[in-house]
Amino acid sequence: MKPNCFKITSLIILFFLVNHNLFALNSDTYQLDTKSSSMVFSGEINGKFLIQYYGKKLDDASQLISSGTGLNVEAYTCFGIHCEEEKALRVKHSDGNLSADLYLKKVEFTKTDDNVELMKVSLYDDKYPFYVNLFYQSFYNEDVIEIWTEIQHMEKKPITLFKYASFSINVEPADPWLVHFHGNWGDEFNITEEPLSRGVKEIRNREGVRSSRHDSPSFILSLNGKPGENYGEVIGGTLAWTGPYKLAFNYAYKHNIEILAGINEDASEYILEKGEIFETPKFILTFSNSGKGQLSRNLHTWARNYQMIAGNTERKILLNSWEGVYFKVTEKDMLEMINDIADIGGELFVMDDGWFGDKYPRDNGKTSLGDWVVSEKKLPHGLDPLINTSKERGILFGIWLEPEMINEKSELYEAHPEWVIQQVNRETVKGRGGTQMVLDLSNPEVQDFVYHKIHDLLTEHPEIAYIKWDANHFISNEGSTYLPGNKQSHLYIEYHRGLQKTLERIRKDHPDVIMQACASGGGRLNYGFLPYFHEFWTSDVTDAVKRIDIQWGSSYFFPAMVLGSHVSTSPNHQTGRELPLKFRTDVAMTARFGLEMQPKDLREIDFENVKIAVETYKSIRPVVQFGDLYRLISPYDNAGLTSLLYANQYKDRAVFFAFTVKENLNKKFPPVRLEGLDPDKKYLIKEINRIDSKAKSIPADQKVFTGQFLMNAGIQVNLRGVYTSRVIELTEVK
Ligand code: DGJ
Repeated sequence: MKPNCFKITSLIILFFLVNHNLFALNSDTYQLDTKSSSMVFSGEINGKFLIQYYGKKLDDASQLISSGTGLNVEAYTCFGIHCEEEKALRVKHSDGNLSADLYLKKVEFTKTDDNVELMKVSLYDDKYPFYVNLFYQSFYNEDVIEIWTEIQHMEKKPITLFKYASFSINVEPADPWLVHFHGNWGDEFNITEEPLSRGVKEIRNREGVRSSRHDSPSFILSLNGKPGENYGEVIGGTLAWTGPYKLAFNYAYKHNIEILAGINEDASEYILEKGEIFETPKFILTFSNSGKGQLSRNLHTWARNYQMIAGNTERKILLNSWEGVYFKVTEKDMLEMINDIADIGGELFVMDDGWFGDKYPRDNGKTSLGDWVVSEKKLPHGLDPLINTSKERGILFGIWLEPEMINEKSELYEAHPEWVIQQVNRETVKGRGGTQMVLDLSNPEVQDFVYHKIHDLLTEHPEIAYIKWDANHFISNEGSTYLPGNKQSHLYIEYHRGLQKTLERIRKDHPDVIMQACASGGGRLNYGFLPYFHEFWTSDVTDAVKRIDIQWGSSYFFPAMVLGSHVSTSPNHQTGRELPLKFRTDVAMTARFGLEMQPKDLREIDFENVKIAVETYKSIRPVVQFGDLYRLISPYDNAGLTSLLYANQYKDRAVFFAFTVKENLNKKFPPVRLEGLDPDKKYLIKEINRIDSKAKSIPADQKVFTGQFLMNAGIQVNLRGVYTSRVIELTEVK
């Protein structure tokens, strides 16, 4: 039986259909529309709530039911009645019963503005006071649907959640291919693209701190064969959760694939108290009818508009001290670096690790984490001379911290050994330097400590404009002296809730401080950090050839403006590879440009050339940081040449990059076909960053071509040899 008010609501919604992204087609079919996709559900009140479809846009989805084309699968699957397969939810009620069986109570719509609309689906169990709410928020122009779930009960005693996915969705592809991303320190964001074989495929992390160190909580699923950059129906997205996660693709024996994503429930069963609401993290899902390129552009635009802090503010050009001096921080070196980056035209200096520790000065990775006071031994006059010089030279000053960590040899550990994540009757596994451990952020006292260390530092030195927030250890010895015995398995979740609370407090009191999330390099590239952090340190590897691969992989989900990419010295410290300065600066320009070196060691000519590169980056920064990305030739194609392009939203400016990464003696690469231009516009071609002035420019330099020509015939980049490169600017001429 449908309640009357629902019928009335449906009629009203139908009436305003043209103005809504979400609407009820009739009393029991619900359609969520974005620019190019539809997601369709059905369900009668007190009946089952079913997903019928997700994919290419449909004009009238009610036909799904009459045609028998719909999926007819429960929208949020529960263990207990049907037990054999993966499920989104698994619960133990207070009486020990292991089942949940959910029915539709109501569906509500809330429209925020013309672009954003929320559908809330309330479900109830017919035998227990147990409730699940499903949320689907559509972003029309970006083709994004944000999905999350709330779980609650009113049983007399607590219940246990064993599985609590953020979302479950079914699709029925003809030829499914899965693209996923994996790696390790110095080798982040490798791409694997493979047919999805039968069985259940899981991608997961239980590292505890660095959620993207090995795999990323992101996927692309092609519905019809190997996806291209410009062709193929692909769905994909990423989980905005900074802790352990699990993605599962259940393709065991049916035609449809159930995709589940959420917090990794392993070793994390959750005791839910009466009345407590368990809210899952959000999954950001998108659809593209024209391949992976559009899927990335959807996510980049959505992230800038809806997820990131200061998504429309340019990111700064900085010098970071790590590879320049490592732990050997001295006032003299810091002052020299500040002056150098100011001379070079940069905008920010960041003093990395090695500046702190009073009783135990931080000379290496073995001591001092937790003791966030300036080391008098290293900086006898404190931070003031550095801050003042930065100010005088017109640049910003930033500092490195690793707030969630502690060393055994530290004043903090001497005062609070109980603040460490530990099992009291076992020895704690230590990390870096054999002494590093993780602070127990589930404990509000620890959250307070971390908040105050940062708040006090920023209050004492309001000129500190940037924090590099590092995190270099994993959770071992899952255990907390704060959480009660029956809730030890909450640690992974409470740690990240505690981290989030702390970050929220910091952001509330210090909204303008720029923050970078770093975790042994790119271990924290995650949408869950984007509301708090302006950018990520993409990888500890600064070798420009390795960086092309790593930044290529990260670009599927993250816009260039959040990917720190620094020019370092040659030979490279991590790989020993020698690369021309031109190649190194050109690679850094494809993302958020910076320097990671000791500038005083540069030859005079290189110092001048770095200045030119900084100037050049400033001129193209708005296009790179806010433009649309087109991946033209992948380094994974092994063609020897790789290329990418950014175009601004008006398509009147673009910049494109080409790099040779393999020896190509006596070989001429075919012209690179550009994308993302307006075929009817004319563009002036200009090769920029000519810091290799000896090399000949491209034949098209300083000439005008139509967008149509550049996209259909392409442009000859005339690159010879290995590790050569071009940066080419396109500007509309009227
Ligand atoms: C790991 C980071 O990834 C590096 O960039 C650097 O900040 C070191 N930690 C400092 O200890």
